[in-house]
Amino acid sequence: MKVTPLDAPLGARITGIDLRETPDEALAAEIRAIVHEYSVTIFPDQTFNAKQQLAFTKSLGPVRKRKLPDDYVSPASSYETPGIAYVSNIRDENGEPTGVIPDGEMWFHHDTCYTDEPDKFTMLYSIAVPKVGGNTMWGNMYQAWDTLPEDLKKEIHGKNALNVYDYATIDKPDLENLENIEKAWQPCVVTHPQNGREALFVNRLMTCQIEGLSVEDSSPILDSIFDHAEQRQFVYEHQWSVGDFVIWDNLAVTHARTHFEIGDDRRLRRSKVSGDKLVA
Ligand code: SIN
Repeated sequence: MKVTPLDAPLGARITGIDLRETPDEALAAEIRAIVHEYSVTIFPDQTFNAKQQLAFTKSLGPVRKRKLPDDYVSPASSYETPGIAYVSNIRDENGEPTGVIPDGEMWFHHDTCYTDEPDKFTMLYSIAVPKVGGNTMWGNMYQAWDTLPEDLKKEIHGKNALNVYDYATIDKPDLENLENIEKAWQPCVVTHPQNGREALFVNRLMTCQIEGLSVEDSSPILDSIFDHAEQRQFVYEHQWSVGDFVIWDNLAVTHARTHFEIGDDRRLRRSKVSGDKLVA
């Protein structure tokens, strides 16, 4: 296995490994350590199927099988294999979406920070890539925290924030109407269990309120933090090629997506390793 760090604020390219072969525990430990070190790891030119991806995911930890909100209408074809889902703008023969999240641009976020135990690792395998857009961006939240101005650090350090996600929208949820919407209070800054480093754990898509402040008073503070954290100096933007498999450390990075059009097919196969309760 060859690890080549990216010329970017995070990330590495990993070659010399065929992910169709499920790693033994020693190799899995090595891969986990590389993901923790670089936060985002890209394995180009992989050709594995959903079963092999699931077996690989299991080798890194317990697979996340989500209980979705009761009123969530799941695109049937997206969850054929428990533990596997598709992120896609492709429609089925009835014109229905085949992907689990809305199309187009997505703002920066941490996966499932609106649940009690946010995901540890997210993985995406690229099956179809659009001609234009649909890039995924990851932001280095260690660096974002380390460089955050002191006055903003004071506003959030040691506090929790409310994270909310509404599957029906790519915008912020309606806070007046949170029934049946998933939400959780999480530390604004997490101490990463693997290395003890602090990382910013708030994001533009899902974080709505700082503990002890009203939503109105929280908003300008949070907006300043998001503006800081989303600066290009902390971000790596990935243009997908078919066969790319990417694993990221959900406690260390946020991710976002650039716009793409329906009709310009994009299809990624997603799996996740579940996480634990977070420590401030
Ligand atoms: C996501 O935000 O979870 C999906 C990322 C992507 O489609 O690039």
